[in-house]
Amino acid sequence: MGTMPEQIPLILDVDTGIDDALALLYACASPEVDLLAVTCVAGNVDARRVAWNTRAVLEVAGRGDVPVVLGREQPLVKPLVTTPETHGPTGLGYASLPEPSRALEHSEAADRIVELARTRPGEITLVTLGPLTNLAVALEREPALPSLLKGFVLMGGAYKAPGNTTPTSEWNLHVDPDAARAVFAAWRPDLDGPPMDLPLAMGLDVTEHAILRPGHLGALARRAGASLADAGAMASEPLRLAGSVAANPVLRFIGDALRFYFEFHEQYDGFYGAFIHDPFAVAAALDRSLVFTQPVFVDVETGPGLAHAMTVADWRGTTGQPSNLDVAVAANADAFMERFIDRVGGLAEARSGVAR
Ligand code: RIB
Ligand code: CA
Repeated sequence: MGTMPEQIPLILDVDTGIDDALALLYACASPEVDLLAVTCVAGNVDARRVAWNTRAVLEVAGRGDVPVVLGREQPLVKPLVTTPETHGPTGLGYASLPEPSRALEHSEAADRIVELARTRPGEITLVTLGPLTNLAVALEREPALPSLLKGFVLMGGAYKAPGNTTPTSEWNLHVDPDAARAVFAAWRPDLDGPPMDLPLAMGLDVTEHAILRPGHLGALARRAGASLADAGAMASEPLRLAGSVAANPVLRFIGDALRFYFEFHEQYDGFYGAFIHDPFAVAAALDRSLVFTQPVFVDVETGPGLAHAMTVADWRGTTGQPSNLDVAVAANADAFMERFIDRVGGLAEARSGVAR
């Protein structure tokens, strides 16, 4: 019996979507994670659908005990724009999951983030995987939140890389640039205030190196104990679910969700596979050695035009502003993919006997 690794208390803020779902599975498969709550925000799909998807995915992972909290259903200023073409009309691609048995929590996301941070000052890491609306509201309610959290990691932005939504902007920030601008401003160092770590920004610069391909799915199925033939079907193009893979609730969910996501990337990015942005952000939150970062001052363009929602990084220090983000500029994506396959494959193996 191995010793329990030192626990990392986490709050995940999600817009579940397919890669958010993979991030939830990765967190549930990581023994060092103490998942305190998952808060939901409108983004890939509407917030109530996000909350349904999140509870359903947690139950696939056997973690129906984790509190799921509904958050903001609209961005701070802009009207909500979702992306059914990327994640499917339900947000989980072709996957269909049983109705979750756990009810939504009665509190609201921003309040729950503030409450948890206040009760465990300096202990909790917040990882945001969608638009920053909930965090912006939490900061309005508790301006000291940056010093109450142990850490903050975001999947969002494009700091040297091109955008994926417009030439200059990444999706999470494009949905709610006003929230992102307020959040980045809140982490500007206060020379008179307590020292605090800068947020780790996992932008497209590194998350687009986390490319899941059919071969990875085959390896994940084998890690879960599937036969060579069944794993081979999952590694084919288009991917197919057969035998023990189809019977495994985690593998079946991953296969049905990713079949949609791979078709999207084939159409829009020219390869049959998927950028798995969100689980990479969770993995880096758990192990900073996966990334190489540079501190930099970043602001967000909230005005109109081609630079709308752009993360403007002052790499040459021309503004004289102190750094407010630690931006991941390089990463060990191969090490992450291996860990993703091992951990999520291990979770699938552990869930293989559960009928869902
Ligand atoms: O740009 C990628 C991000 O937008 C990911 O978090 C994905 O889930 C979508 O929300
Ligand atoms: Ca997301």
